[in-house]
Amino acid sequence: MGLAVDGRIIEDMSGLLRAVRVGRGLAGYAAFVLGFMVLVILEGAVVRATGSGAGCGAHWPLCNGQVIPHHPRIATMIEFAHRSLTGLESTFFIVLIAWIFYAREKGDRARRAAVWVGILLVIEALLGAVLVLGQYVERNASNARVLVQGVHFTNTMLLLGATTLAWWWLRPRESVVAGVEARSLAWLALLATIVVGATGSVAALADTLFPSPSFQAGLAEDFSAAAPLLVRMRWVHPAAALVGVVCAGWLCLRVRSRVAKWLVGLMVLQLVLGVGDVLLLAPTWMQVLHLLGADLYWIALVGLAANVLWPDAESRFPAEMTARKATATA
Ligand code: HEM
Repeated sequence: MGLAVDGRIIEDMSGLLRAVRVGRGLAGYAAFVLGFMVLVILEGAVVRATGSGAGCGAHWPLCNGQVIPHHPRIATMIEFAHRSLTGLESTFFIVLIAWIFYAREKGDRARRAAVWVGILLVIEALLGAVLVLGQYVERNASNARVLVQGVHFTNTMLLLGATTLAWWWLRPRESVVAGVEARSLAWLALLATIVVGATGSVAALADTLFPSPSFQAGLAEDFSAAAPLLVRMRWVHPAAALVGVVCAGWLCLRVRSRVAKWLVGLMVLQLVLGVGDVLLLAPTWMQVLHLLGADLYWIALVGLAANVLWPDAESRFPAEMTARKATATA
């Protein structure tokens, strides 16, 4: 009886190992890691919007010198929750990288994306440490903080992009035939959107540190010589967003595919959320919603750009591949 049970366990275990080896469920797991990363980013925005960045003091990786804080304040709880989620997500990332390397052959695109995930993850952790140890948190409005904020958010976008690529290249591919113009547009849209994200994170910091009492007062401050640099830089973000949206919209016109349709929908939603954010004077819930829209928009754009920039051989040289297939079947 015991033997039969043991035999069953061994059989189940070897079945599981086989499934892991062939990568069954790997794309689903990558989608989960990507979704969890969006959650961690949104929690990061709550840390900033509520000024809880120093909730764990100038300690890293410990929280106020402790593994688990005793009698925490609200700010400590928010910052501690963020650190715990980042710790969990880092573990998920390591498992993802290891699994991709185990299940996918040498030269596979998903492996290349996984290497980038690893590199950007290390940079992200170091930048997080710079934020906390350099005390670029709470009410710090120095130019150095603006720079670190922009660099940190840019790296977050790149990490989100690399994770999207890992997931994208584990899924069944959608064939796209794209010319040179679409390829240039794809690069342009990616670059412009990174600038949109970085300037958005600076606008978010300005709204957190110098909230406007009304829409009119905010608009006047944007162009007042007496206002802090952070506030005077606020207008750059909507302007960059318009440039980014034109590039991405043009790309969608050139490449008609399912993901392009998603991107157009998310673009419209993001513009509405952006205008709503300004009109409502950026309350925390709206900032989180706008950031969620930005993440989804970025994921769709990276997926579309990947189809355009690194198409399958079949969609890159359609005539040649059809001729080759015909010769093979003849
Ligand atoms: C495709 C278009 C857009 C993208 C990808 C985008 C992305 C972002 C990102 C990533 C942030 C930083 C959020 C954070 O760190 O918490 C942000 C902030 C902000 N964005 Fe945008 N944005 C877009 C369009 C717009 C537009 C059109 C407006 C206004 C007309 C706008 C207004 C704002 C404001 C006021 C903030 C600061 C408050 C906040 O964090 O929500 N955005 N945006």
